Amino acid sequence: NSKHLDTMKKMHGLLAKLYHYCLTETDFGKDALAYLDKRGIAKNTIETFQIGFSPDSWEFSTSFLARRGFSLDDAEKAGLLSKRNFDGKLFDRFRNRIMFPIQNAKGETIAFGARILGKGEPKYLNSPETPIFNKSKTLYGLHLARSSIRSKRQAVLFEGYIDVISAWKAGVTNAVATLGTSLTEEQAKQIRRTAETVVVCYDSDEAGVSAALRASEVLESAGCYVKIAKMPDGYDPDDYIQTYGPKKFLGEVIAQASTQMSFKMETLRRGKNLLDEGERIRYVEEVLQEISRLPKAVERDHYLRQLADEFSLSLDALKKQQFQYYLQSK
Ligand code: CTP
Ligand code: MN
Ligand code: MN
Ligand code: MN
Ligand code: MN
Repeated sequence: NSKHLDTMKKMHGLLAKLYHYCLTETDFGKDALAYLDKRGIAKNTIETFQIGFSPDSWEFSTSFLARRGFSLDDAEKAGLLSKRNFDGKLFDRFRNRIMFPIQNAKGETIAFGARILGKGEPKYLNSPETPIFNKSKTLYGLHLARSSIRSKRQAVLFEGYIDVISAWKAGVTNAVATLGTSLTEEQAKQIRRTAETVVVCYDSDEAGVSAALRASEVLESAGCYVKIAKMPDGYDPDDYIQTYGPKKFLGEVIAQASTQMSFKMETLRRGKNLLDEGERIRYVEEVLQEISRLPKAVERDHYLRQLADEFSLSLDALKKQQFQYYLQSK
């Protein structure tokens, strides 16, 4: 019932404050603070995102919640505690990790993402699905970003917590992220309620590239106008900002985000030597196949002309071959 849910949110709110206090005001947080500093996450950012630290203890959160009179069974159902298999004893789920509070659209803390300091597995430990936390309906950063999304009529979608945080520092205050899963229809609809355009800015590895294309399909189906940002191979947005700085990120990644089709063309280009005749023809054919999938005649025409110009090919021949591919795919 709803009283139950309120209690679970209350536990999260109190623990978020406690973890934040541990990070910023106590000796427990020293290493975590140094780690964040090394990654360029300073005091004011820690405040904005209410980042915290869970001490290296099996009973820090457990005894805090018990002292506050909460039912530990409820805390376990809320994903804050775990149960020891052999005797059912409850202990802290989050230990020795940097804590990123995850908020719902109203700004209530409903879960945590928890990063290990440095290397180790799992890199992130997240809250499980609970009565107050549904991963596929939640977007990290949405509450904070909402007014900025509304005034810019644009949102920027990332893969990671740290990408949202780094982007915020770079001035991208309309940033949200999924929570380690692919973008769902519900999340896309939530974004559409405040944004017209969405810039998808995913990690630039193979997984990120295909996830970006999938996310852009979902966003388009939800009625968003979509652009995809490109970064050098192997970078994620945070890496990019750390290496090239916020100015380049804004000017060359966010502002240069392009249509899905241009993104696909760039991706197909990678690893091909277009000075080689055979590779050039293969590239043109692959692009034609993509063009044949475009639903709008105006778009098909636009890219066919672009291709004809770039490679000095006859527009007529390109049109014919594109139409062949279209028929084959029926
Ligand atoms: N993720 C997760 N569990 C993991 C790894 C990743 O839930 N074991 C989710 C997190 O939400 C993370 C996102 O997937 O933010 C992207 O993962 P990844 O690119 O690996 O991490 P980064 O966000 O780049 O984190 P960092 O820069 O700290 O390595
Ligand atoms: Mn503070
Ligand atoms: Mn990744
Ligand atoms: Mn990443
Ligand atoms: Mn990263």
